[in-house]
Amino acid sequence: MLTNPVQPLAIVVLISGDGSNLQAIIDNIASGQLSAKLVAVISNRDQAYGLERARRHGIPTQVIAATLHPDRTAYDQALMQCIDSYSPQLIVLAGFMRILTTEFVQHYAGRLINIHPSLLPKHKGLHTHQRALDAGDNEHGATVHFVTPELDSGPIILQMKVPILPNDTAEELQQRVHQAEHQLYPEALRRIATGRVQLRGDIVYVDNSPVTAINRFIELANHAK
Ligand code: GRF
Repeated sequence: MLTNPVQPLAIVVLISGDGSNLQAIIDNIASGQLSAKLVAVISNRDQAYGLERARRHGIPTQVIAATLHPDRTAYDQALMQCIDSYSPQLIVLAGFMRILTTEFVQHYAGRLINIHPSLLPKHKGLHTHQRALDAGDNEHGATVHFVTPELDSGPIILQMKVPILPNDTAEELQQRVHQAEHQLYPEALRRIATGRVQLRGDIVYVDNSPVTAINRFIELANHAK
């Protein structure tokens, strides 16, 4: 558990794709707004553009391809070994498109976080933007949460809402959520890196106050990146 994080916070980021959230984290570190060090970026796909982003910033990268491992358990073992060789304090999932084994999740209990493109507990799983539109929701957003074995169900750290506008397409909504994510994830990491966030049982505390369905939102700043 991350009770007294050492600064800068050593983070391993896991990605599968574009890595725009990774970029937002890199930018926040570079501008001095986040006291953290990305000790490695690991992908299951060698074509993930996020690897290129990491290399550009001198961050070590690793690819662990699923095809080289007979099953999910073996894959996750290899992934754990790779992650642990960098001794991170926190493991950040940023668009890592794999279901993780319970063993993996338990190995990193309290120091494994994810960003999900919906206002959890609404719209767990994939295609959240289309599902929010289909449900007639008038708002959507993103959630940063601790990872537990049940998919997209772990204790919530922070959320950000975005409006759903008339005639929005899923693509337009996705872009708006992405912009929100680029502020939300760095802010959640800032709170963790400065020791403000604690997980006690399955309740998240920020500054010693429990995070609830009322107080877990931050607003999108106007200067959206
Ligand atoms: C984000 O929408 C995130 O919420 C989800 O995967 C997407 C990753 O996007 N888990 P990117 O690779 O960071 O651009």
